[in-house]
Amino acid sequence: MKKILVTRKLLKSNEERILKLWNAKLNLNDEMYSNKKLIDLSIDCEGILSSITDAIDENVINKLSNKVKIISNFAVGFGNIDIDAARKRNIVVTNTPDVLTDATAEIAMLLILGASRRATEGIKKAREKNWKWSADFLIGKQLSGSRLGILGMGRIGRAVAKRARAFGMEIHYHNRKKLSPDLELKATYHQNVRSLFSVSDILSINCPATKQTKDIINKESLEYFPKDAIIVNSARGDMIEDDAMIKALKDKKIYALGLDVYKGEPQINAGYLNLPNVFLLPHLGSATKKTRTDMADLAIDNIKEYFDTGNCKNKVN
Ligand code: GLV
Repeated sequence: MKKILVTRKLLKSNEERILKLWNAKLNLNDEMYSNKKLIDLSIDCEGILSSITDAIDENVINKLSNKVKIISNFAVGFGNIDIDAARKRNIVVTNTPDVLTDATAEIAMLLILGASRRATEGIKKAREKNWKWSADFLIGKQLSGSRLGILGMGRIGRAVAKRARAFGMEIHYHNRKKLSPDLELKATYHQNVRSLFSVSDILSINCPATKQTKDIINKESLEYFPKDAIIVNSARGDMIEDDAMIKALKDKKIYALGLDVYKGEPQINAGYLNLPNVFLLPHLGSATKKTRTDMADLAIDNIKEYFDTGNCKNKVN
C-alpha cells in the first residue's frame, strides 16, 4: 500500500476515504508543520496532500526524499508551491479547479456587498446598540446600474460576472486573452488594466498570483480608478500594494475595500484594521461543507489518478 502525508486536518469523510486508499499520515491535531517537520514526515511517502498554509518553496522541494512523486494541493491556487523546482525534481503538482468556483464567487459578492453597503460600520453600530434610523444613516453605494470590472475572467471571474449581472451591474473585464462570445456573454473586454480600472466603479480581483500580477494595484494604478471606486479581492493578497491602498482609503480616493485574502496570511496589515471603510474576512472563499468536501475529494482523486496512471489531468507543472 502506498504511503502519503496529509499536512492539515481534513473533514472526517475525506480522511476516512484516504485511510481506505493508502497508508496515510494524517494530522489529527491540525498542527502547523514547520518545513523541517514536513520534510521529515514525508521521508517515506510517495505523495503529499498539502494546503495553502504550507510554503513549499525551492528549498523545501530540494530537501524532499526521492520517494515523493506528487504534491496534491488542496486549493485551486498553487502559489505556495515552487512548481518549477518541483518539475526539475520530477514531482507532479496538482490543484483542485472547478469545485470551488461557486463558493468563491459567493464570497466575492459578499465582499462587494459588504464594502458597498458599509457593513463594517453597520455591524459595529448594531452590536453596540448605538444607532437610530434616519434618512441619511449609513448611506452606501448601490450595485444596480454600476460598472463592475473583473480582473481575471477565468472560471471564478465568470461566476462573479454571472452573479453581478443578476444584481443589474454592467460587466467589464481584463484577461490575458479576450474570451469567445459564448464565455464573454456581452461583457466588455479591455486590453489593459488601465482601461479596465478607469471604468470600474467596483473592481473584483479574480486573477492568479503571478510575477505579472504581483502588486498590480499600486500607487500608480490606483490613480486610474474613477473617484469613489470600490475594490474587492477574493484571489490572493499578493496583488495589492497594501501601503498605497491604505493611503488611498484614508484619502477617500478609494471609497471602500473588501478583502478575503492577504499578503503574508494570516497576518493582516495593521493599517487596514481600524479603517471603517474596509470589510475584512479571514480567507473564507471556499469555506462551505460541500466545497471543502469536494476539494479534498478532488485532491485525493488527483493522487489516485497519478498513482494509477502516472499522470493527472489537474497537473499544473
Ligand atoms: C483558495 O484560496 C484556493 O486557492 O483554493
